Amino acid sequence: MSHVSDAAPARVSVPQLHKWKQEGRRIVMVTAYDAATARIADPVVDVILVGDSVGNVCLGFENTLPVSMAMMNHHVEAVARTKPRALLVADMPYLSFHLSAEETLRNAGGFLQRGAAAVKLEGGAKRADAVRALVDCEIPVMGHLGLTPQSVNVMGGFKVQGRVAEAAMQLLEDALRLEEAGCFALVLEGIPTELAARVTEALRIPTIGIGAGPHCSGQVLVFHDVLGLIQGHKARFVRTYINGYGVLQDALSRWAEDVRGGAFPGSEESYRLPESARSAVEAWQAPAPK
Ligand code: KIV
Repeated sequence: MSHVSDAAPARVSVPQLHKWKQEGRRIVMVTAYDAATARIADPVVDVILVGDSVGNVCLGFENTLPVSMAMMNHHVEAVARTKPRALLVADMPYLSFHLSAEETLRNAGGFLQRGAAAVKLEGGAKRADAVRALVDCEIPVMGHLGLTPQSVNVMGGFKVQGRVAEAAMQLLEDALRLEEAGCFALVLEGIPTELAARVTEALRIPTIGIGAGPHCSGQVLVFHDVLGLIQGHKARFVRTYINGYGVLQDALSRWAEDVRGGAFPGSEESYRLPESARSAVEAWQAPAPK
């Protein structure tokens, strides 16, 4: 059986991202955590990331540290079932790539067996060995530098990184080491525009920015941020295109009002008995209580 098909539409691939960087076509990545959000995103974006941000966005955690492989597998499977055309990247959660090369491979390989096309992991040069081990086993790896949320305790909060010369130099060095180790792309999160621009021009692989200015090869945001589904503090780097929270809550409250007022369901939302069964149901008598 041939594995090569002429049929469109082509799935976005890792080499495609490289081509787009060379052509100067910006890459669009968004998070999705379930089938419903993946189906909305897929026709519009190039890359879908099942991010460990599922922890704070959907599961009610304060940060991403409690997110486990079991939780991530559950969400990766849900998104993968939609067979997205976009490149599907699965985020390696905290402690899934820290303990041994064997465990790292088992976790990342499990994502691929569930339908992801690549994995993402946070950290700089100290993750180079893990990246090499994964790439050696045919697992494409996206790196992630700068404000890496899994390092929240080391950073002392969610703060912009690389603002002093030493930290900026370290980030440039980390970026080169990750490219050398075989990463196919790098997320740059929460770093100054000038630093992200320097990294982007120094690397052959594409950079995908979030709070890293406009000079990256692409941009990523959390689905719920773009659509205004979360109330409360909004990071400076987020641009919200609809007040999804308000729009959805308004629609829900109109439905609740209809239920309370007896206007829902109407005959269009109800099923009817055929004539033959109706008389039997009407003639039925409840048995006398024992
Ligand atoms: O988990 C996530 O959503 C991320 C992106 C925001 C880059 O890592």
